[in-house]
Amino acid sequence: MRPDSIGALVVLAALVVAGVVSSSSAFTPTGNPREVPVQPVDQNASNGLVGAMDALRIGKLAASWDELRAMPRPGQLGGPRSDLGWRGLIDFADGRRAFRQVFEPAQGLGPGFNERACANCHSHPNTGGGGPDMGVSVATVAPPDDPRDTVGTQKYAIAGHKAQQIAATTPRRRTPPLYGIGLLDEVPDDALKAHADPNDRDKDGISGVLNERGHPAGGKRPARFGHKCNEPNLLRFIGAALFGEMGVTNRASRAAPKDKDKIKDPEAPVGYVARVDAFVRGLAPPPRGPIGPAERRGEKTFQVLGCTGCHKPRVGHVTGAYTDMLVHDLGTAVSDGLYDGKAGPTEWRTPALWGLRHRKKYLHDERAASLDTVLAFHGGEAAETAGRYRKLGKRDAADLKAFLDSL
Ligand code: HEC
Ligand code: HEC
Repeated sequence: MRPDSIGALVVLAALVVAGVVSSSSAFTPTGNPREVPVQPVDQNASNGLVGAMDALRIGKLAASWDELRAMPRPGQLGGPRSDLGWRGLIDFADGRRAFRQVFEPAQGLGPGFNERACANCHSHPNTGGGGPDMGVSVATVAPPDDPRDTVGTQKYAIAGHKAQQIAATTPRRRTPPLYGIGLLDEVPDDALKAHADPNDRDKDGISGVLNERGHPAGGKRPARFGHKCNEPNLLRFIGAALFGEMGVTNRASRAAPKDKDKIKDPEAPVGYVARVDAFVRGLAPPPRGPIGPAERRGEKTFQVLGCTGCHKPRVGHVTGAYTDMLVHDLGTAVSDGLYDGKAGPTEWRTPALWGLRHRKKYLHDERAASLDTVLAFHGGEAAETAGRYRKLGKRDAADLKAFLDSL
């Protein structure tokens, strides 16, 4: 063990003796309290000294000491949320290592896969972010959920297997950044329902549809994750990503945990998924850049134009994400020809705009490199708003740009 790890253990032991830190509290994942489909790791820990050491994160702390020191500070881009507490911080650092773990065939990688680590795609501008790596999707006739569902295809295969053939025209979707996503998971379903207006009763031209999907406890729940809102629960999305992108079977995903390689299923232990979950869920929302008079005027313009009809400054208790987590019809120019539950080819989830200044290309397939192009693709429900944008004077347009560049 390195000398500084020993130092940390001594500090922790001193805290226990001083009674500052209770050794009995068990790990419960923060976030969506309504469903926790997998057992948290530490509940299986034995009592006594080993249990106490697990509850105190002694092993995790020793293994993640370098990670803790190297990762971004709380509240910074790619860093942990400021409200995590010391246990949450250690789980976050440990989960960040799990997120960067590179899988080998012996650990369950494949048979088909797109990448060997979560962090290989979610990497820009740092670990937990988005990236130019495009998920490639096709329609399926053998759906897990709905006959019009969409599945991802895979680029590579391990030795002895064939990668799925991908047609040249198959629609592509960028890797979205994950900063602040744990907060969006905590938004109650009712807060999403409050913004949905599928029949446009308020006649503002903007509807907003809840893409409801089945979930393990039965019934349907509004889905909020994925470009077309196809998954209600963050933990299950993580399980699905592990299976879909890396071919690693696990019990957290909706799909049955079985594949055709020689490794015993489920290939990832429950504990691995819980570790990754602690990192993803703990990621801080991107901090705002400096806000001056131009940024403040720009925010007003954003509201007056009607951008906030979809890019809501507040959803549930979460402020500053500028999304309603609903799908909207943006017109035929952004169609990908695919269905995902209730979301049709021209429908996409309003992306959160926090962290926008760290992205260089925009929209689900990164087809746009400027705000003008982004708004040229805001047809359908957003056509009226985009029309107002095109009539803006120079100064108002510059202010709007300044506001967006501060996100
Ligand atoms: C090959 C690249 C790739 C890898 C590897 C990958 N992802 Fe993703 N991730 C994507 C893409 C592309 C999407 C968007 C999928 C969609 O909506 O069609 C996505 C979406 C997500 C989302 C939903 C984000 C949102 O805004 O709704 C989460 C959460 C996520 N990934 C977590 C993970 C985790 C955890 C891992 C590792 C187990 C992982 N991803 C591995 C490319 C990747
Ligand atoms: C009817 C709902 C709606 C309205 C109104 C709307 N947007 Fe959007 N916006 C969306 C959706 C949906 C997308 C994603 C489309 C895609 O990925 O193809 C999007 C994407 C964007 C993006 C790209 C984000 C990224 O990460 O790639 C920006 C920037 C943006 N909108 C700004 C604006 C501005 C500025 C306005 C007002 C002038 C506006 N939007 C009005 C729904 C809306």
